[in-house]
Amino acid sequence: MLGAMRPVLLTATLLAGCGASAPHAAPPPSSEGAALYAQYCALCHGADGEGYAADDATRLRGQRFLTTATDDLLAVAIARGRPHTAMAGYSDQFGGPLTDAQIDALVAFVRGWQVEPTVALDATPLEGDAENGAELFARECASCHGQLGNGGRGAQSLNRWTFLSQASDAFLRYAIEHGREETPMPAFAGRLSAQEIADVVVFLRRFEEEPDVVPRFMAPPRLEDMTVVRHEGGPRPQFELREGRFVSAAQVRDAVAAQARLILLDARPTSDWLVARLPGALPVPYYDIEPILARLPRDGTWIVAYCGCPHTASGEVVDRLRAAGFEHTAVLDEGVFHWIDAGYPTEEGPLPAARAQ
Ligand code: HEC
Ligand code: HEC
Repeated sequence: MLGAMRPVLLTATLLAGCGASAPHAAPPPSSEGAALYAQYCALCHGADGEGYAADDATRLRGQRFLTTATDDLLAVAIARGRPHTAMAGYSDQFGGPLTDAQIDALVAFVRGWQVEPTVALDATPLEGDAENGAELFARECASCHGQLGNGGRGAQSLNRWTFLSQASDAFLRYAIEHGREETPMPAFAGRLSAQEIADVVVFLRRFEEEPDVVPRFMAPPRLEDMTVVRHEGGPRPQFELREGRFVSAAQVRDAVAAQARLILLDARPTSDWLVARLPGALPVPYYDIEPILARLPRDGTWIVAYCGCPHTASGEVVDRLRAAGFEHTAVLDEGVFHWIDAGYPTEEGPLPAARAQ
């Protein structure tokens, strides 16, 4: 879809489901936002929003970002995440841990890093030649953002609908023209003409496909109701760890196929666990590790934790387990996206509880 950004209405649809509050009207005290940020976000975006503490987690305190990004862009990114990246959806309406009010508090906290005035962006939709934009993108952008803007090469994705639906043409143009200070994102003004930049923006808009079903998930099952050890009576795998810490996906896949005695822990937010996980993996999000500790057997059963970022959240879990005396613990080396992309077995669902309007 060419042209104007989808209206803010979408945000209400995305976030609401049941009774949307007035969007970000009165920001709650920033101490709440600060605490939430430290608990849920600092792991990847850094303690002060400097970015890149893990994976391609962006610099949230950058002025070129904050002076052009709307509160809705921030809120939708937090609530729905960027699917199939390390950025999970944190809204409790999609199985994540945060209420709308907590998301508002986080938005207000991140907004607090903005010290420069908001840029008045020209809302006129851009027109251009998408074919030329595709060529320019392959030449100038793909080395960092991936061929299709998929991300994962040191720069965030650009093709997720949770991003494009909130990013106006002017927002995209501004980012491309000016770059993002203190990050690898270069300024292309002077390197590409205004028309070439418009062509690239029109090309990016091609990815703006909203899924026809917006899944809304039930709360994840309670840990108490779940089986901890896969295949109690199965063989015990002999994992060989890299650097005493990382187990390769191939070894874990073989152990799963052999119905080995094994415990798998998904360290991502529960919203991601609900979408797809390793078979039999338990939800043990990096922000809520304690409850599993009492349930784990202390008999040398291997425990493998994984995440998408690709080691940071799972590393937190393994560090905590090792501190509690569990020896046979490992981090899935390549992370969960390698596992999924390689076509190794996954388990999905529960099925969407309801369709969003
Ligand atoms: C050298 C690597 C690199 C190249 C080349 C590059 N980018 Fe980026 N780009 C980045 C990084 C890293 C970020 C995230 C910066 C941050 O943390 O805010 C980014 C951010 C962006 C954003 C902002 C997205 C958002 O969600 O806020 C847009 C839009 C963008 N790039 C478009 C492009 C386009 C179009 C090109 C080619 C004309 C390009 N980039 C080339 C590394 C790169
Ligand atoms: C496990 C790592 C991780 C955690 C934890 C995390 N993020 Fe992210 N976040 C990312 C990554 C990676 C991206 C870029 C995703 C992509 O490729 O599009 C991102 C993107 C974002 C964006 C979009 C930025 C832009 O330029 O478009 C926002 C806003 C954001 N995160 C806020 C948060 C907040 C607030 C929290 C805490 C609730 C959080 N994130 C927790 C990894 C993480």
